[in-house]
Amino acid sequence: MLRSFALILPLAALAGGALAAGSAAPDRANGKQVWDHWCAPCHARGPGHPGTQSLQIKYHGTPPAALKDRTDLTPGITAMYVRQGIDLMPFFRKTEVSDKDLRDLSAYLDKGK
Ligand code: HEC
Repeated sequence: MLRSFALILPLAALAGGALAAGSAAPDRANGKQVWDHWCAPCHARGPGHPGTQSLQIKYHGTPPAALKDRTDLTPGITAMYVRQGIDLMPFFRKTEVSDKDLRDLSAYLDKGK
């Protein structure tokens, strides 16, 4: 009996390690690429970006119109807008922005950590 426990415990530890590897830390470098491709055309700083302009009109600078200057975009908030869209902003399908890409993108925009 004791012997089988001695065998099972290290196996359980191994399985736990494998699970932890599956949920590795988000890849912010990939998040930046997703941002540059899908979001920056509308949300980069300055004129000529409909997202930035709309948010300037909506919030008058507080919070800042450029998403990169925001400090309140938690992963949950970013994910909600990306999957649902709002007003002129289309929602993005998982075939466009995958769940992994969304996690990386949200981490890239999240200044909270
Ligand atoms: C076609 C242009 C366009 C693209 C592409 C786009 N957006 Fe938007 N986005 C907008 C517009 C316009 C608004 C403002 C809507 C409104 O007036 O409420 C907006 C609003 C948002 C908001 C809400 C901010 C707030 O607090 O009200 C977030 C967050 C956001 N976009 C994130 C993203 C991300 C992340 C991407 C890339 C995956 C993206 N958007 C791509 C146009 C775009």
